[in-house]
Amino acid sequence: MGKKVTVVGAGFYGSTTAQRLAEYDIFDTVVITDIVDGKPEGLALDINQSRPIEGFETLVVGKTTGADGAGYEVIAGSDVVVITAGLPRKPGMSRMDLLETNAKIVRQVSEQVARHAPDAVVIVVSNPLDEMTAMAQLATGFPRNRVLGQAGMLDTARFSHFVAEALSVPVGTVRTLTLGSHGDTMVPVPSRSTVNGKPLREVMPAEQIEELVVRTRNGGAEVVALLKTGSAYYAPSAAAARMARAVAQDSGEVMPVCAWVDGDYGISGVYLGVEAELGAQGVRRIVQTELDADELTALKAAAEAVRAKQGDVADL
Ligand code: LAC
Repeated sequence: MGKKVTVVGAGFYGSTTAQRLAEYDIFDTVVITDIVDGKPEGLALDINQSRPIEGFETLVVGKTTGADGAGYEVIAGSDVVVITAGLPRKPGMSRMDLLETNAKIVRQVSEQVARHAPDAVVIVVSNPLDEMTAMAQLATGFPRNRVLGQAGMLDTARFSHFVAEALSVPVGTVRTLTLGSHGDTMVPVPSRSTVNGKPLREVMPAEQIEELVVRTRNGGAEVVALLKTGSAYYAPSAAAARMARAVAQDSGEVMPVCAWVDGDYGISGVYLGVEAELGAQGVRRIVQTELDADELTALKAAAEAVRAKQGDVADL
């Protein structure tokens, strides 16, 4: 049977994710939903009309959903559901400032997902990311491996872009890694980063690496400050769509994602940015990477910071 993926939320992040997923041409159906009347239907029609030009057969279905969950039957049978619903940041806001508002939205959406697509793998992108991923797991009641969050792919991509740009090398020669939270306790990992196979630390001075690490940690805020309305969506949607594809194709690709960690790195019981092998059931396994002592300390600090906040979401 053909694959079906749903994107909840038809803002820029949701609509560009739906577009990328449709253009992969591996799904029968891409569903996009929103509470704004007519918006998902209009976007679906528009993407469908690009099919003859871009040459893909996937059909996009748009559906306006009601606050009471009306319309959600359209997501039935989805293999993957990407939750983008929620408010984006405004300039000067931290992702954490969105916690209470987005927790309510993500809880409502998750309850509908559990009802109408009980076998789906859920990929959360709403912010604050690590907390909203925990919320989606709580509200769906799905096994933890079937709920994950998008952040590490994006943060890693930003780091790689900055390194490639600074060194004027093809971005394809750069490998970087970021772990930890999608926030203040993000942990870029220079020790695992390479350029043309050479350790980053051999091709870039420590101060410059640190500058790019800081820029990566503030990567989302830098875009928000420039856009003034809304947050980034091209790189974020690229990351989310690749994760959804890895799940739909049961590919076994290893990606940095927000996943449930229980024992790896000596860290237990928390959703945290780590590398994981993705397949049809979501996270197949966490891939533990060798870290420097200071990187491991930073990862453990990130785990404690997000654990405290994730504990709060049950009450939101
Ligand atoms: C960012 C938002 C989407 O990092 O979290 O751009």
